[in-house]
Amino acid sequence: MRLWQNPASPFARKVRMVAHELGLATRIEEIPTMVSPVAPNSDLAAQNPLVKIPALQTDDGAVLYDSAVICEYLDTLHTGTRLFPGGKSRWNALRLQVLCDGILEAAVLCRYEMAIRPQELRWNGWVDGQFIKIRNGLDALEKEEPAWKGFFGIGQIGAACVLGYLDFRFPDEAWRASRPQLAAWFELISKRPSVIATVPSA
Ligand code: BEZ
Repeated sequence: MRLWQNPASPFARKVRMVAHELGLATRIEEIPTMVSPVAPNSDLAAQNPLVKIPALQTDDGAVLYDSAVICEYLDTLHTGTRLFPGGKSRWNALRLQVLCDGILEAAVLCRYEMAIRPQELRWNGWVDGQFIKIRNGLDALEKEEPAWKGFFGIGQIGAACVLGYLDFRFPDEAWRASRPQLAAWFELISKRPSVIATVPSA
């Protein structure tokens, strides 16, 4: 398999973390890919018309995107405990994944706004609106962390990517201060090999 990815992307990290959790990382060739919302990338566009990472080419030659689809695909390639549970638990896992993806989308939009958009075009009120989503989402994660009880499925992998990305791109966002359960959980899961192997870098 081939994965178009960028070591700073939290969505690519989600896929890479899943691959490590499932023992599939050695079956995936990673293709480092530069992405910017304002720069064309014809190589990536040939794989994903939305010109977004991650995109995964399977061994059959099909190309899958986005991270949620790729992660669920990878989860079909092994016989161990599913990261996407079945039965009633599935809906809660998918909801948690969407919550974490939504926090990440808001955080990446803020990153683009603060790092790429020319200073004179920046809109602080818009960034503030995205940060409300991020902080509301973190508050929701803080409330539900006790129910995770050691399970590290697709929702928890998403949460690990959220917290890792905030530490990476927004180190001044003191998210731990009012969210002690989430902070303790993150410290614990940061020791997992899949989390260590995928720490973001610029
Ligand atoms: C980042 O540099 O923060 C970033 C890179 C790729 C995708 C999303 C975010």
